[in-house]
Amino acid sequence: MTVQIDHALEEIRRFRPSPEFAAQAVADKHLYEAAAADRLGFWADQARELLQWEKPFTSTLDWSNPPFAKWFDDGELNVAVNCLDRHVAAGLGDRVALHWEGEPGDSRDVTYAELTDEVKRAANVLTELGIGEHDRVAIYLPMIPEAVVAMLACARIGAVHSVVFGGFSADSLASRIDDAEASLVITADGGYRKGKVFPLKPVVDEALQKSEGDTVRNVLVVRRGENDVELVDGRDHWWHDTVGQASNEHEPKAFGAEHPLFILYTSGTTGKPKGILHTSGGYLTQAAFTHRNVFDLHPERDVYWCTADVGWITGHSYVVYGPLANGATQVLYEGTPDTPHPGRWWEIVEKYGVTILYTAPTAIRSFMKLGRQIPHEFNLRSLRLLGSVGEPINPEAWIWYRHVIGGGSIPVVDTWWQTETGAIMISALPGVTDLKPGSAQVAIPGVSVDILSDDGERVDGEGGGLLVITEPWPSMLRGIWGDPERFKETYWEKFGDKYFAGDGARRDEDGDIWLLGRVDDVMNVSGHRLSTAEIESSLVAHPYTAEAAVVGASDETTGQAVVAFVILKASQVSHIDDPAIASEELRKHVAMQIGAIARPRQVFIVNELPKTRSGKIMRRLLRDLAEGRQVGDTTTLADTSVMTAITRQVQ
Ligand code: PRX
Repeated sequence: MTVQIDHALEEIRRFRPSPEFAAQAVADKHLYEAAAADRLGFWADQARELLQWEKPFTSTLDWSNPPFAKWFDDGELNVAVNCLDRHVAAGLGDRVALHWEGEPGDSRDVTYAELTDEVKRAANVLTELGIGEHDRVAIYLPMIPEAVVAMLACARIGAVHSVVFGGFSADSLASRIDDAEASLVITADGGYRKGKVFPLKPVVDEALQKSEGDTVRNVLVVRRGENDVELVDGRDHWWHDTVGQASNEHEPKAFGAEHPLFILYTSGTTGKPKGILHTSGGYLTQAAFTHRNVFDLHPERDVYWCTADVGWITGHSYVVYGPLANGATQVLYEGTPDTPHPGRWWEIVEKYGVTILYTAPTAIRSFMKLGRQIPHEFNLRSLRLLGSVGEPINPEAWIWYRHVIGGGSIPVVDTWWQTETGAIMISALPGVTDLKPGSAQVAIPGVSVDILSDDGERVDGEGGGLLVITEPWPSMLRGIWGDPERFKETYWEKFGDKYFAGDGARRDEDGDIWLLGRVDDVMNVSGHRLSTAEIESSLVAHPYTAEAAVVGASDETTGQAVVAFVILKASQVSHIDDPAIASEELRKHVAMQIGAIARPRQVFIVNELPKTRSGKIMRRLLRDLAEGRQVGDTTTLADTSVMTAITRQVQ
């Protein structure tokens, strides 16, 4: 792997924090100074300030057996108490924790006192079902308050949850249950998605038939979809019959800071998903710290909304643990952005007066495609901060987000991190940092990153390289469940004591970091390295383009060639007589913006892009198409018919 990544797209816009925002900001530049002066002391201070410890820690970091870190190891705490009981004890029991909004329009407000009560009941039921410390519990639920309750009930009794996204199939669920040897599954009859009930319990039944481990003894079922389900006698129990009837008295126990909190499966370079393991004290410290400082949280007045599903790491750290540890009031929404109408999200922002919105570039670009008139039908003036996560946000989407959703003057923070990092690692701090559309900017205080060449040399200046994290951080993964060797090999073998993130990055002359996409998505065209993200960004900057995906397809002459798939903006489609003219125009545009070497060999105009249910574009399938192969496995697509339609358009 060589790592010289070309870039040519120059983004020169800068946005200073407004004096009004800066005056009230939670973060200040002294955080950087404090962390630079004494990194471990800084994290120890954060852990003490942000969390309630039942037994104070004396050791901050134990890195005597790398890459297995221990943070705050001799301290003890209860994660659920930190997210719930202590806020109630502080007199905040009546504060709304969750404004829950069901897709069909039903809604429910849950206060901190109510959530604490429900978690205590659920903790009692889990214990009655024989779940103890270290036991694994699979959670397969829609976005309903019970998902949060189930996770925190596990945390409260020291059990380890493994949340499996509700869009995963029975096979995926079975393999995750088997890998973790889960003894309990918490699910629902079904949930709402795109105006229909999608069944979950029947998928659990199928998964348990397929499961080879035979470890599951009980299934708890929340009633939500009212679809028909069968309960197996002795194994399956309704949530309302058990949790609903249980006592709300529960004495929490304190656990060591390194007590396992959860496993979350994520895909790696091989076919088998990795069970990323996170523990308690360090994870919660960094989740709470970043949630407070990156989102400028003022818990007494903000209404925060992170649109991620709890099935992903963003939902773990920025729906459940970070916000609740900070006593935030937040929106939890069950459904899709466009049901029953394309303005659904904006209606929710208006209804609850959302002040902080955290979402993904793919969602932003879908909204761009629909046009600004839809958000403009709603009052979005409550918004005062916007966040982005999951992939590089191209400058055009950043600007659109800031202007059309944010009204033109509020901060947009682009946050880089991973399932493995547990919490945000690279981001601007609002009120402190001058913002630069398209760049994730700088490591947060207390985190050290670098950009290295393939052979471990520091890459300075304009060249691109590989992103590494040079020092252990509190919320780092503690391993891959059941596979310490794979943990070492995947992340630590390449650079010894530095964590290899798998992303390409470059640093600009101000020291700001630009993410260039996964290194596996880097193309080599005639010996030149090009980033898919950069070409996509260029395509999306053209007025014709709503969304674009670029792949490197093998090419006899140039090694690889750039092939682009582009969705045109609805407003443009009627003006374009011949898609071939649009393709040619876009090819020229990229050549002009980045250089002739980046000119796509082909630009296919399509109506859809293949996306997983979490919104990630499956470039692998587009590469198959671009290379004239049979299209591979499409089962993880949100809509499996999409590839057939694209294939027809391309041919
Ligand atoms: O390639 C990076 C991209 O998403 C990867 C991590 O994916 P996942 O573990 O699913 O976690 C996503 C949510 C934290 C990274 O290796 N990524 C994430 N955030 C950004 C990003 N790429 C560029 N900019 C970001 N802000």
